[in-house]
Amino acid sequence: MRELLLAGLSKLEYRGYDSAGISVIADGQIEAVRAVGNLSALETKLSGAAAARQNGAVAVAQKPATTGIGHTRWATHGRVSEENAHPHFDSDDRVHVVVNGIVENYMALKERLLGEGCVFTSETDAEVIAHLIAAHYRDDLAEAVRLAFGELEGHYAFVAMSLEQPDLLVGARKECPLIVGRGEGEQFVASAVPAFLSETRDVQYVENGEIVVLRPEGVEIMTGDGAEVQRGVEQVDWDQETAEKGGYDTFMLKEIHEQADAVADTIFDRTARGDGVDLDEEGALDESILKDVKRIVVVACGTAYHAGLIGRYALEEWARVPVEMDIASEYRYRNPVVGPGDLVIGVSQSGETADTLAAMRLARERGATVLAITNTRGSQATRDADGVLYTRAGLEIGVAATKTFVCQVAVMYLLALRLAELRGTLEPARIAELVAELKRLPHCIDETIERCESQAEEIAKTCWDAEFFFYIGRHVGLPVALEGALKLKEISYISTDAYAAGEMKHGPIALLDEATPVVCVATRSPVLDKLISNMQEARARGARVIAVATEGDGEVEPHSDASIAVPATDWMLQPIIAVIPLQLLAYAVARSRGLNVDQPRNLAKTVTVE
Ligand code: F6R
Repeated sequence: MRELLLAGLSKLEYRGYDSAGISVIADGQIEAVRAVGNLSALETKLSGAAAARQNGAVAVAQKPATTGIGHTRWATHGRVSEENAHPHFDSDDRVHVVVNGIVENYMALKERLLGEGCVFTSETDAEVIAHLIAAHYRDDLAEAVRLAFGELEGHYAFVAMSLEQPDLLVGARKECPLIVGRGEGEQFVASAVPAFLSETRDVQYVENGEIVVLRPEGVEIMTGDGAEVQRGVEQVDWDQETAEKGGYDTFMLKEIHEQADAVADTIFDRTARGDGVDLDEEGALDESILKDVKRIVVVACGTAYHAGLIGRYALEEWARVPVEMDIASEYRYRNPVVGPGDLVIGVSQSGETADTLAAMRLARERGATVLAITNTRGSQATRDADGVLYTRAGLEIGVAATKTFVCQVAVMYLLALRLAELRGTLEPARIAELVAELKRLPHCIDETIERCESQAEEIAKTCWDAEFFFYIGRHVGLPVALEGALKLKEISYISTDAYAAGEMKHGPIALLDEATPVVCVATRSPVLDKLISNMQEARARGARVIAVATEGDGEVEPHSDASIAVPATDWMLQPIIAVIPLQLLAYAVARSRGLNVDQPRNLAKTVTVE
């Protein structure tokens, strides 16, 4: 069992992790073994248990076992530590769980469970699930999971086992994936197929809101109300690589589809209060510094720079702080005027981009306070900054950034709202309204992907062979246009230009002709009328106008040759949704050209050279 669990976890290695653990039931005992680091650290710890066995003290994890669960963690909530690694267990150490995703109402549940005498041993939201199941447990684990499931809110999937019923695993799914592998006299359940692909290719997909009960002889699936569900068994004919891509053709597409979860992870506990934002977390800047900041300078490269551009609008609009933006490779060489009282924000997915690090160091040497926004714990940016705010996108493998971009934008929004709160620049009611909209974003992102994927493919069929694409936008739509153009050029090798729509008439309009697709970010905003005028100007030159519009805004469609509608949200938040059709369009065009989108030519995921 131990080897089987380790082998399964190793197949999920491509996701990256910082700690791992397993629990098994053997000989009437249950035990979790967890270790910080990669899987080899866990293996070493388990072989330490084997050494103990030779000395006569047989560790549970070494005894023959038939039931077990395992997990690799990429820290989101709670630091990287053995206590925060999964499996988690209840106070009596009888119910063990592994959990992916987030439990949004864990604070309220934890408070209640603490009142009932539960003893918590980790800082995670996940541990609450073990205590909750134990609190509901009478003599039926499936029923206890069902009752617990009914009380949990969030985006998550978990699997539980109990010492009382050693031949049973019970899983539940809300948004995060859960897939059953069917065997003869043995059953598997995992977040992704590769974990059990060496054992079986017969799978059953657990749907949202369902509970799954595994016994050696078979599997039952039920709804959250306990009604039985009939689900056919499907055969996967994937090889290992396809399986690692979760059945998607490419990592990039998989990562586009992970954006809702990534944004949910990034915002959930920080917006738990509902009427504001909490960023007073481990590694963050002291809030007194934030409150008194005189000026903000954002430095970044590429896609991260575009996220910074969107952040600038939010920081200025909501927190009323002047914001300067610079491309990191330019900033470091222009002898910038920067010093005490300035907050310099370095945005970097990898936290290792040489130019961004150099710009941050320069600013720090001159007395500015430096904040890093990064996806990578332990990266150089986290060591070079005075404070860190993490995006929680998980590992991104595709070279073209997608899910890390939307998470960078989400962190920028969180920061701008927190600053607005600290500085009293927005009415509390407006802050609460924006927080509520932020919390809706994961749902809107999912809806956008569902709606736009096939539309983007249809549009790509009409323009995949164009030699040049032009992108325009205004206000927060401009960074979206810049990002859309960058996505297309880097994965399709088509030449693109992106401009503030109002600048078009000052030169670039000369480029337009019948062969030019003009992609317009025409989502709802106070400047939409002006953008529509620019669309008309492009069309008058024979160009083919492709618009991204907000649903219900009927005035855009008549001025475009093709349009994609995205769900409505507050117009300042619209970029995080509007960028998705542009990612999908770039993807569809590159695929139509038969290109390798995960590893575009000449590019590296982390740019550690100047
Ligand atoms: C484009 C892309 C790059 C990176 C840039 C900065 O899709 O991924 O433009 O955004 O190289 O990288 P980080 O964010 O790691 O500093």
